[in-house]
Amino acid sequence: MWAMAYTVPDLPYPYEALEPHISAQTMRFHHDKHHQAYVDKANAALDGTGLEDAPPREVLTRLSEFPPDKRDAVRNNVGGHLNHSLFWESMTPDSTGTPAKDGKLMGAIRDTFRGLPGLKETIKDAAMSQFGSGWAWLVHDGYRILIVTTGEQDSPITDGLEPLLGIDVWEHAYYLDYENRRAEYVDAWLQVVDWAVVEQRFGEAPVPDVSGLLERLVSVCGTEHRFGEVTLDEARAHSADLKALAGWGPMAKIGAIARGWSDLALQMQKHKVNTVAELDPGIVEHAARALWIILPGRSMVEPQG
Ligand SMILES: [Fe+2]
Repeated sequence: MWAMAYTVPDLPYPYEALEPHISAQTMRFHHDKHHQAYVDKANAALDGTGLEDAPPREVLTRLSEFPPDKRDAVRNNVGGHLNHSLFWESMTPDSTGTPAKDGKLMGAIRDTFRGLPGLKETIKDAAMSQFGSGWAWLVHDGYRILIVTTGEQDSPITDGLEPLLGIDVWEHAYYLDYENRRAEYVDAWLQVVDWAVVEQRFGEAPVPDVSGLLERLVSVCGTEHRFGEVTLDEARAHSADLKALAGWGPMAKIGAIARGWSDLALQMQKHKVNTVAELDPGIVEHAARALWIILPGRSMVEPQG
């Protein structure tokens, strides 16, 4: 038997709470029938795999461990369960319409989308471009926020991306209310987003562990420094030194690394910090790749000796 079989969570508001944007009838079918079907099939698919008790997000990062004949059922139904569990919590009848103006999420939205209208336009474009059934997502990749789509019930978690907000663009989510008018549904749905929940997810999104990276020794203006202790002035000065060298043709990499140091200095200036260690871990890791302190496209390498 399943000691901890999945169950459909209760809606955090009444079925009719999201009207007129989403009808009680849609919510009843979607929550009571569709989500329940994902849960039932997920429990059946996991039975006998040894992962019956694993949380959905763990299952979705271990899909390759399932035998091929089980993998699709697990991916679709555990994905369906997790995606919908996030979906109900992402909506509220008391939407503020915006994250807090001076909060960290709004800062990230300005960095990536220039502002909330840009985010809404981008997620709507993504929702419209998803062919057939699937989802459009705002995700965090450990460094920044971005919009992605997934087909069917695939989860961003499988790709190592943390979902912050996801809109269900399966027809079952909107057909009773909007027939085939997906754009109208997306506009309506954006009226009921619970931005406080999105902010909470953003605050809790996993970031890389850069503690080892901050201890690495790097050469800055001819002197060895711990990467974490490099100051804004040192980063600027080192960038200028490298730019002067970059004219020397054989050192092709130096120009890119000079830009990396000036980008890092800009980040420190923008976030009003004086050392690398005070920056967000995602920014530190991103900078370390640009500076070839860790190799681009690889995970972190251990310090030498
Ligand atoms: Fe759905």
